[in-house]
Amino acid sequence: MNIQIDNKDFNLLIEYDQIKKRTRLIGIQLNVDYDNRVPVFIGVLNGSFLFLADLIKEVTISSEVTFVKVSSYEGEKNSGKIKLELGLQMDLKDRDVIIVEDIVDTGATLRFLIDKISEQHPSSVAVCTLLLKPKMLKEAIKEITYVGFEIPDEFVVGYGLDYNGLGRNLKDIYRAEYVPSET
Ligand code: IMP
Repeated sequence: MNIQIDNKDFNLLIEYDQIKKRTRLIGIQLNVDYDNRVPVFIGVLNGSFLFLADLIKEVTISSEVTFVKVSSYEGEKNSGKIKLELGLQMDLKDRDVIIVEDIVDTGATLRFLIDKISEQHPSSVAVCTLLLKPKMLKEAIKEITYVGFEIPDEFVVGYGLDYNGLGRNLKDIYRAEYVPSET
C-alpha cells in the first residue's frame, strides 16, 4: 500500500500484525530475563510511545515506566549535538534499566543516553529497540539486547515515527520511496 505524507511517497514495510507478534516475543524474553527483578523501562520520546505502550502490556513481571526526551540541536538530526529536553525523572542507582527506543540509526542518541544513565550507577543497562539500521550504526553498542526488526538504510515513518512531525499515528510502518536525485 502506498501513502503520501507531506507530499512524499511512502510504501508499506512492516504491518502492525508483525509488530504485535514480534513485540509479544520480546515481552516473553524480558519476563524470563528480568524474572525476580523490578526493571525500569525508560521510553525515549517522542517516537517510542506506541512501541512502549504495546511492549509493556506483554510484560508480566513487576516493573516501572518513565520517559526521557532527547533532541538534536539546530533541528539537525544525527548532528551529534544532542541534549536532554526532558531529563531523567527517577533515581536509577542500583536499578535494572531498559531503554526503549523506536529506532537506532547512527546510534548517537543512544550513546548519549547510555552515558547519561550510567552516571547514576544503575546495576544494568539494556536497550530494546523496535527498529535497527545496522548499516548506519557508527559503533557497536553492546547494550542493544532486544531488536524488533533490522531494516535497510531507508527513512521510515509510522507507529510512532514521524516525517516532519507527521505520521506517528499510522498503525503500520512505511518506508520512503526512493527518488533518484535530479542533477
Ligand atoms: P541516531 O541518533 O542516529 O541513532 O538517531 C535516532 C533518532 O533519529 C531516532 O530516535 C529518530 O528520532 C530519528 N530517526 C532516525 N532514523 C529515522 C527514520 O528512518 N525515521 C524517523 N526518524 C528517524
